[in-house]
Amino acid sequence: MSSTPSIEVRVQSTRWEAEGIVSLELVRTDGAMLPAFAAGAHIDMELPNGISRSYSLMNDPTETHRYVVAVNRDPASRGGSKFIHDALRCGDRLQISAPGNNFPLEESAGHTVLFAGGIGVTPLLCMARRLQALGRSWEIWYSARTRSVAACIDALMALDAAAGGNRVHLNFDQAPGGRMLDLEALVGACAPDTHVYCCGPLPMLAAFEKACAARDQATVHVEYFSSATPVAAEGGYTVVLSRSGRSIEVTPGKTILDAMLDSDIDVPYSCMEGVCGTCELRVIEGLPDHRDLVLSKEERAANKSLMVCCSGSLTPRLVLDW
Ligand code: FES
Repeated sequence: MSSTPSIEVRVQSTRWEAEGIVSLELVRTDGAMLPAFAAGAHIDMELPNGISRSYSLMNDPTETHRYVVAVNRDPASRGGSKFIHDALRCGDRLQISAPGNNFPLEESAGHTVLFAGGIGVTPLLCMARRLQALGRSWEIWYSARTRSVAACIDALMALDAAAGGNRVHLNFDQAPGGRMLDLEALVGACAPDTHVYCCGPLPMLAAFEKACAARDQATVHVEYFSSATPVAAEGGYTVVLSRSGRSIEVTPGKTILDAMLDSDIDVPYSCMEGVCGTCELRVIEGLPDHRDLVLSKEERAANKSLMVCCSGSLTPRLVLDW
């Protein structure tokens, strides 16, 4: 995240949330307030080992004295979650970005249904907090393998109690007698003007999107943590950076981001798989080959921007606003 505004924070506290999940409370090292954020927002964290990762903010969005994120230890970790679990300690300093938000909450909806899978509960907990504070009607379906690996249950149950109960529905699919959430049926039971949100593992998101296919897409909101879509690394085109006039050849095997970094061009990035939106650049000319999970269908069709970490070009020349 080399060019994004950087804020220095300290790990104020860590908390065991569930098996394999810890949360981090981050405060500014200079004692000042952090930028305000809205439900659904995330930050990019630059870890002391040089790796940058995006994490959803899960605390109350009225809080600006701290950010709280939860991190699931990913067995296939390339150094992000493993480092946080094994090496990051209270008092350590980190650089973070200001919050971004690819998963905004429609606060005026008459009713909102949140579908969470595993660690995907974090942005949805933040949304539930916001909806409850606004006095809106909401409910959450939260699925995890077992209760022992499900984070945030206490916080959700406290919200449930404050709301009068029956807002939080827990599902443990690998517990004895457990089964996967029937998203087809649950989404099918939602009124057409209910706003539905999903964050969780890829198979759950795929099932959710299938279940939502016939809905008005303005009521459907999805956030991905990772992508199964291969990045565009076919190469064979030129990227022109309009501000400097520099031309960069993107050769086979490289993404646009690779080519820019190889040319010592500083550009913000984080996830490198098209899910966080940090590397979005405006397209001035040419046709992108979109591979991200951030832009909506309409935004993709408009071709006004692309994520350079994963998307390529369908035209021999692509002019970007950078
Ligand atoms: S770096 Fe996350 S979308 Fe490109």
